[in-house]
Amino acid sequence: MEQILILDFGGQYKQLIARRIRECNVYCEILPYTTSLETIRALQPKGIVLTGGPDSVNEPQSPSYDAGLFSLGIPVLGICYGAQLTAKLLGGAVVPAGVSEYGHSDLFVDVPDSALFSGVPSETSCWMSHTDRIERVPDGFLITAHTGNCPVAAMEDPDRRLYAVQFHPEVVHTPEGAVMLRRFVREICGCSGSWHMSAFAQEQIEALRKKIGPARVLLGLSGGVDSSVAAALLSRAIGKQLVCVFVDHGLLRKNEGDEVESVFGENGGFDLQFVRVQAQERFYRALKGVTDPEQKRKIIGEQFIRVFEEEANKLGAIDYLAQGTIYPDVIESGVGGAVIKSHHNVGGLPKTLSFRGIVEPLRQLFKDEVRAVGLELGLPASMVYRQPFPGPGLGVRIVGEVTPEKVRIVQEADAIFREELTRAGVDVGKGQFFAALTNMQSVGVMGDARTYAYAVVLRAVITEDFMTARAARLPYELLDTAMNRIINEVKGVNRVFYDLTSKPPSTIELE
Ligand code: XMP
Repeated sequence: MEQILILDFGGQYKQLIARRIRECNVYCEILPYTTSLETIRALQPKGIVLTGGPDSVNEPQSPSYDAGLFSLGIPVLGICYGAQLTAKLLGGAVVPAGVSEYGHSDLFVDVPDSALFSGVPSETSCWMSHTDRIERVPDGFLITAHTGNCPVAAMEDPDRRLYAVQFHPEVVHTPEGAVMLRRFVREICGCSGSWHMSAFAQEQIEALRKKIGPARVLLGLSGGVDSSVAAALLSRAIGKQLVCVFVDHGLLRKNEGDEVESVFGENGGFDLQFVRVQAQERFYRALKGVTDPEQKRKIIGEQFIRVFEEEANKLGAIDYLAQGTIYPDVIESGVGGAVIKSHHNVGGLPKTLSFRGIVEPLRQLFKDEVRAVGLELGLPASMVYRQPFPGPGLGVRIVGEVTPEKVRIVQEADAIFREELTRAGVDVGKGQFFAALTNMQSVGVMGDARTYAYAVVLRAVITEDFMTARAARLPYELLDTAMNRIINEVKGVNRVFYDLTSKPPSTIELE
């Protein structure tokens, strides 16, 4: 398959580089800079990108590479550290910049007919982040762009198809960056742009059939996007040889269990063996009296694994365990290393079960690609665009002890809140929006009677990466309506709060 390799020198934007290249319908993979030249040669990539990195190329301990990389006849694009490394390895000079350059810089393209910059205005801007700079370009290279502080913002040797940019074309703050990356992969490397999710799905289905043969595969289905798309793909590949075990731990959102069953159960559109385990009582029992949040998480995780194992043991011989691992999971756990993604992220792999192997059909995909495959295979949009939901479910949205009564309250309140968000046309795609339950009861008055009831918290955050988040500025009318409905329709609630805190110092979930 046609592909671009991204050699990782520790840059924080490596995932973004991969995203941008995939957006050009070109497949790419990130490999650590320790990958040997022979391996790279054997992979026959159409092009190679060297990422940025936190080090200085002049330090002896800094990551480097075999200069033979530049003689493979394969186009190379060095970015930031990758650019400096290109300069250094080919005989140029890199020096401390004197003044570090961070953030926006005006970029002047000096060679407008450069294959990399064709179509880019001669004056544009770029995002810089560096303390060293290229002082002298290697023989054969010409300087193709500069900024006020950086005489060599880009250089190239078009004959050898070697390119380097000091700035970061992969970030949105370099407005023409996507154009440049597209020029590199499509024009300079000559990739055809045939990476489409419909083709991926078809190829993957064939590959799964070949790998699995007549064997049986077990998948822990949570109803989340990744495990659902994995189920859909496997179902198309091997039908009833796929067994999906869906554990209802009693901490799901309102109607969620039924929704999952309607898609994957008897009357859904997928051919597979669907097992829904009604384990609510068991989880409630295990959680009785437990108030410590970490303890709750642990109990839910352990119970989950135990239930899963018990079900698996009832199924007879199973050959493969399938997992909905996706590419960011692979990258996060160290490129090339083994990934073990637990169902729901709550427990880890079942310990007492043994399998011939693991099947991870989504391992190569980014989240939006996973969604595209899901739609392609006929999963409902509501499932494909489902909001992230923590593995321990409502267990971590109920502060203090989890009881069936509290679960009912938070399910009802959350359903109302989400209905009102939909009615108000709020785009929930960029965040997490839900109701949670405080452990606080207080006095209120309803009708002529005093009440002593719970306070519900509405939580709505906007976030890019779930590492930081800020409270959404929801319309007051929406909050007012949601509050009114929750008070009127959910028994046991007499106050509704809106959580205004950002993360940090708060977290997204409440407990
Ligand atoms: P916090 O509250 O830590 O949440 O800001 C960040 C993101 O992680 C999800 N989350 C979890 N996911 N198991 C999970 O699988 C957990 O125990 C858990 N706790 C939080 C949360 O929903 C948000 O998307």
